[in-house]
Amino acid sequence: MDTISPPTTQPDLAALLRWHLEAGVDETIGEEPINRYAATSSPAAPIVVAARPAPAAPVLAPGAPKPTSAHLAQECKTLAELKLAVESYDGCALKSFATRTVFADGNPNARVMVIGEAPGEDEDRQGLPFVGVSGKLLDRMLGSIGLDRATNAYITNVVFWRPPGNRKPTAEEIVLCLPFVQRHIELLDPALLLLVGGPAASTILANPQGITKIRGKWFDYETPGLPRPVPTMATFHPAYLLRSPQQKRFAWRDLLTVKQKLDSLGVA
Ligand code: URA
Repeated sequence: MDTISPPTTQPDLAALLRWHLEAGVDETIGEEPINRYAATSSPAAPIVVAARPAPAAPVLAPGAPKPTSAHLAQECKTLAELKLAVESYDGCALKSFATRTVFADGNPNARVMVIGEAPGEDEDRQGLPFVGVSGKLLDRMLGSIGLDRATNAYITNVVFWRPPGNRKPTAEEIVLCLPFVQRHIELLDPALLLLVGGPAASTILANPQGITKIRGKWFDYETPGLPRPVPTMATFHPAYLLRSPQQKRFAWRDLLTVKQKLDSLGVA
């Protein structure tokens, strides 16, 4: 794994900027630097932090091990409880770098669930998935087959916090979030799952093959918590399609196949 250490030579400003970007610092918050040591004699006004919601997990005896994400997820009986449990979960280190927990967007009664990779900068800022440039393309892709998040689609990711510097989430981070994602699918109980990008596809389908191999095929996703297997298809991630527009025709083909399936299931 790459380690990130601050550049030591003076004054390589480009290296310093690169280091900040890799560490996840991607915006400035003031024009002038603040000397916080000098400020100790006259403290600034306190920063008001909204209280965190109480965890949905049961109260544990002192000294008991912290509940795992699997334990917390299984306790949740509604999407609202799951959202609270994810927001209260401190077991994934990504959370400490992120501004917001990005849980989901869309209609909780939708029959189509879309799962992507990880929040980016815009998502971290707004607390909603797929609201940046690739989100705009995802909206257009869904719109081309009559789906949109306001009425008949529900969107989430395999991790709930932005990885610093927009790096890919690690296998460990994905595994920690996975019980929440699996419970998310059970509680939404969609008629169809659309996985966008390799990490979502390989995680949900437990299939180590790359997205080029997996995309465009139907899989049945099933767990004991679902009333029936869910037809599932993976396709290319919109961020990849923005970089490789020549691949859009394959994604288009996948979307038409999804549309046919929705028609055959009688789902709008
Ligand atoms: N890419 C994703 O996979 N998810 C988002 O929410 C945004 C960008």
